[in-house]
Amino acid sequence: METTDVIIIGAGAAGMMCAVEAGRRGRRVVVLDHARNPGEKIRISGGGRCNFTNLEAPPERFLSGNPRFAISALKRFTPADFISRVDAAGIAWHEKTLGQLFCDGSARQIVDLLVRDMVAAGVDLRLGTGISAVSRDGGFLVETSGGTIRAESLVLATGGKSIPKMGATGFAYRIAEQFGLAVTETRPALVPLTFAEQDLEKLRPLAGVSVEARVTLGRTAFEEGLLFTHRGLSGPSILQISSYWREGDSLTVDLARGCDVAGALKAQRGAGGRIAVLTALGRYVPEKVGDMVLEAAGISGRLADQSNSVLDRIGDAVNRWQVKPVGSEGYRTAEVTLGGIDTGGLDARTMEARTVPGLYFIGEAVDVTGWLGGYNFQWAWSSGWAAGQAV
Ligand code: FDA
Repeated sequence: METTDVIIIGAGAAGMMCAVEAGRRGRRVVVLDHARNPGEKIRISGGGRCNFTNLEAPPERFLSGNPRFAISALKRFTPADFISRVDAAGIAWHEKTLGQLFCDGSARQIVDLLVRDMVAAGVDLRLGTGISAVSRDGGFLVETSGGTIRAESLVLATGGKSIPKMGATGFAYRIAEQFGLAVTETRPALVPLTFAEQDLEKLRPLAGVSVEARVTLGRTAFEEGLLFTHRGLSGPSILQISSYWREGDSLTVDLARGCDVAGALKAQRGAGGRIAVLTALGRYVPEKVGDMVLEAAGISGRLADQSNSVLDRIGDAVNRWQVKPVGSEGYRTAEVTLGGIDTGGLDARTMEARTVPGLYFIGEAVDVTGWLGGYNFQWAWSSGWAAGQAV
């Protein structure tokens, strides 16, 4: 039977980083993936430019049953560490917004960097390889479409359930359960939210319209773009809040961030006010949003004829729009999976299962989920790096 030191299942961001590090330490590493190409999610990420990290990755920007779990790995392999690798590879990059770093060229450059580093570290990458079973005999036996391989260490880096069309599976969760590790509830995150049919009737005409918004749920708020879609809401502010939203929750949306609309309308009215109220509102929100707000409130006519209480109602409808999504677009479009392998069962320094020596879980499969903005790749790099030092 073929033997090696380390088997890594999953040639995504975390698996490749782990492979490079373990290979550099002189470990014999075999990486298995059922996909035809490595790093497919890297390739499609960031609109093809890969938001490969964020200038800062504080633990508050990650959701987890144990918010402290990610600290160790994120401290030991930081955004600056990954940026140095990108710089050393001569990949040009830029900061887009909020510390988010993207390739100037193409996301493929990041995949190529990792593949080159794996080759240089002597890693054996086997694509198009299905895994039928995993068992333990002191080490680990992995039954693949290419035969059985035995290794001292086994790393699960198969990611989450998002985008099943691209080969995402719940494989890591199944293996965790097989070895007695707990898995927290998983759900789609960084995902557009959807509305009930009766709400959509009013909102459909707005599909394609975007605004700079502030979206609030309880004590959590995001100030970023919002996009009306044919099925509900999307855009960065909605993707961000979707990680916190649960069925039954209402969102408060400010559709004209930074502008007190009631106050501004009163000021305009004081300065003349012969214009239509819709035209006046159009200074602060796109016309279609203005239309929706006025129609819903049954308000029309000239600005000059509107009372203070009517302008307050308009202000509330724009600055404090209450919406109750009924669901999300699901794993079909979700950027990540919230939840996963319970961090209580893992060593935060090495990602090794506490009760199963030699078994490791890294990347999105673990119950650590970053905000939108390069945080999920940073978690993949940091957790992959941490396990790579230990396997
Ligand atoms: P990842 O999913 O990358 O890799 C898992 C690998 O395991 C895959 O190669 C898969 O084929 C393989 N695999 C799965 N099941 C298997 C099985 N049963 N047998 C064998 N192999 C199996 N994040 C970010 O920080 N910045 C960004 O710009 C974006 N953009 C983005 C866009 C889109 C459209 C999506 C869907 C996601 C993002 N993300 C992102 C999130 C980011 O892509 C994600 O968090 C990381 O890819 C997770 O890395 P992993 O290595 O953990 O899993």
